[in-house]
Amino acid sequence: MEALDLWVRNTSEVLTVEGTHREPAEAALTPRPGAGIGVKDGRVAYVGPESGLPKGALTDATEVIDAEGGFVGPGFVDPHTHLVFAGERSAEFDLRNQGATYLEIAKAGGGIANTVSATRAASEEELATLALPRLERLLAQGVTTAEVKSGYGLNLADELKMLRAVRRLGALSPLELVPTLLCAHAVPPEYKERRAEYLDLCIHEILPAVAREGLARFCDVFTEDSAFTVEESRRLLNAGKALGLTPRLHADQLTACGASALAAEVGAASADHLEQVTDEGIRALAAANVTAVLVPTSTLFLRMRPYAPGRKLRDAGVNIALGSNVNPGSSMTENLALVLGLACLENGLSAAEAYWGATRGAAQCLGLQRQGRLAVGDAGDLVVFACRSYRHLPYHLGISHARVVVKGGRVVF
Ligand code: NIG
Repeated sequence: MEALDLWVRNTSEVLTVEGTHREPAEAALTPRPGAGIGVKDGRVAYVGPESGLPKGALTDATEVIDAEGGFVGPGFVDPHTHLVFAGERSAEFDLRNQGATYLEIAKAGGGIANTVSATRAASEEELATLALPRLERLLAQGVTTAEVKSGYGLNLADELKMLRAVRRLGALSPLELVPTLLCAHAVPPEYKERRAEYLDLCIHEILPAVAREGLARFCDVFTEDSAFTVEESRRLLNAGKALGLTPRLHADQLTACGASALAAEVGAASADHLEQVTDEGIRALAAANVTAVLVPTSTLFLRMRPYAPGRKLRDAGVNIALGSNVNPGSSMTENLALVLGLACLENGLSAAEAYWGATRGAAQCLGLQRQGRLAVGDAGDLVVFACRSYRHLPYHLGISHARVVVKGGRVVF
């Protein structure tokens, strides 16, 4: 064997997460007690006891990390963020805590429209600069790949600007970013009385321009009667699909409006939020193999009830992913540790199911074959935790235990 670039020793266990969501999560995490893990050329090259390492694997050039008895797992994958934006909405947070609702604030001209004004006024470079510390906070939590949405531009120039800012941001950070077009996040104020025209603009101008420039992998829509109806969403997602953009939906967040059934119908990669999903919606997601992305910090942040029925979704055979949903309106936090805790406390998942959701479950919905797991040949994206077991992560609520973060074999935190 050629010399390893990186060797992590003295672990409690390495979780290679080689199973599927159809088996019990504890087994799917594939624990390897006492194993070390080696990375070569950015990929996992060996998992097993140090005594089993081939001759020549460790040289003076190998970077050796002592896990100090902590466990090692794949870098977290955050499948739902809106981390590129300008401005902030702390006043709305205050209003909600005094009884106003998210929808009332939006109807009064605040909400997404508030961030749209600030984002339109910022340059591509400013947007990337503003997003960088948010990305660094995700990295400090052990996130090595994150999806990032547009959706605060809501016209051709500003949606392109946001997605170019995502690309610029990716070049500034070791994290890998997966861009999503969300021009159908809200009907922009200037189109309030002309919503059909805005949809046409999305379908005939924004989607084709984004596809031409290769700026996004997914096309997302906020499906809600107060945003885009099921019929409008269907048109948009099918148009995106025809251009090679895989559909995803903000689904059944505020009302049960049939968005999950639409996600199944269009073959979406994910249906996100799902606080209000019905039993029928759950069956549709399971049958069409659509991942449910749960974002419990936004349920908390908006003081909404109920939380998405994670237990029911998992029992129905749906793959579950967990996201931070970091954004200025409904989830101003990069705290993935809190997401894991709430997924157990409020969505009804076990610690193993939550851990799956933040690793392989999330990678799967983003179509990432080699991430969120640590089998030989997979990406050398891993986290050394300052605790012996994944069970400690949701239990020690809201506290990050990521001690060392490695991306592509390189220590980045
Ligand atoms: O995923 N629900 C819609 N979109 C975001 C919130 C965006 C905002 O309020 O700025 C979400 O929660």
